Amino acid sequence: MSGSSTIEAAMASRASPAKAPAAETRAAQVPAQTGAKVIGDVILDVKNISLSFGGVKALTDISFDVREHEIRAIIGPNGAGKSSMLNCINGVYTPQQGTITFKGKTFSNMDSYQVASMGIARTFQNLALFKGMSVIDNIMTGRNLRIKSNIFLQALRIGPAEREEIRHREFVEHIIDFLEIQAFRKTAVGQLPYGLQKRVDLGRALAMEPQVLLLDEPMAGMNLEEKQDMSRFVLDINDEFGTTVVLIEHDMGVVMDISDRVVVLDYGKKIGDGTPEEVRNNPDVISAYLGTSH
Ligand SMILES: Nc1ncnc2c1ncn2[C@@H]1O[C@H](COP(=O)(O)OP(=O)(O)OP(=O)(O)O)[C@@H](O)[C@H]1O
Ligand SMILES: [Mg+2]
Repeated sequence: MSGSSTIEAAMASRASPAKAPAAETRAAQVPAQTGAKVIGDVILDVKNISLSFGGVKALTDISFDVREHEIRAIIGPNGAGKSSMLNCINGVYTPQQGTITFKGKTFSNMDSYQVASMGIARTFQNLALFKGMSVIDNIMTGRNLRIKSNIFLQALRIGPAEREEIRHREFVEHIIDFLEIQAFRKTAVGQLPYGLQKRVDLGRALAMEPQVLLLDEPMAGMNLEEKQDMSRFVLDINDEFGTTVVLIEHDMGVVMDISDRVVVLDYGKKIGDGTPEEVRNNPDVISAYLGTSH
């Protein structure tokens, strides 16, 4: 058995349920620096981040960077600190130590609104949608940051507010077409199957027109076909819009298939960083997934 099949088998047994067989989702691997894709300069630089909750050290001295236009995966067993890392980047958690530099500006403490207006959007591991609202209205909430008219004009839908609303709705319709959810535009999100709700959550994040998109397990709980669709959307977003993607994902087949570089966390520490090939052959990473070291 090769190193790669060992780690994938280990992940399949440790990760969340409803994982499809990794090998079925894997296609040819594309290393970051080859092919048509051009990876740019560092856009997001995470330095020496430490975060604890009381006695629990969720993150210990984590550093890694994300380059413009890359798909950067964060992987690791359950409880490794992956979601906490995204929460530090988008200002939900305040790390006790370390800095985050985004487009050359350094922060030790970002607030969520500031992060969003600077161009970082995210989706959530546990969906944060308005279940009783339609697909289109949920995605419209992603436009809020960009709505300029004052609330009074918006409420009356007159003059510039009306024109602005039309423009935003057109933008949202494009996203709906892109994500192929036209048939459900007016459906309440709570009535949709889980896989489609994840797609709506992605639409809401895309409506913010982010430069960096943080995706927390966008494929969790999906069947094989839904995972393939979601992988294709992530690749298309990265390719067509040039959006930089930071992706937390448990399915090693998906990670190997679509990411340019991978950070590996375990018990809040970074134990690996490199191309998918480097990471899958890293003995520390293999033992973390098999639970044999420490
Ligand atoms: N708000 C919080 N309060 C207390 N402890 C927390 C909080 N958020 C995270 N933790 C703890 O920090 C550690 C890392 O959790 P985190 O959710 O970041 O892991 P994860 O890698 O995303 O795991 P999973 O794969 O299960 O989603 C865990 O021990 C968790 O219990
Ligand atoms: Mg998580």
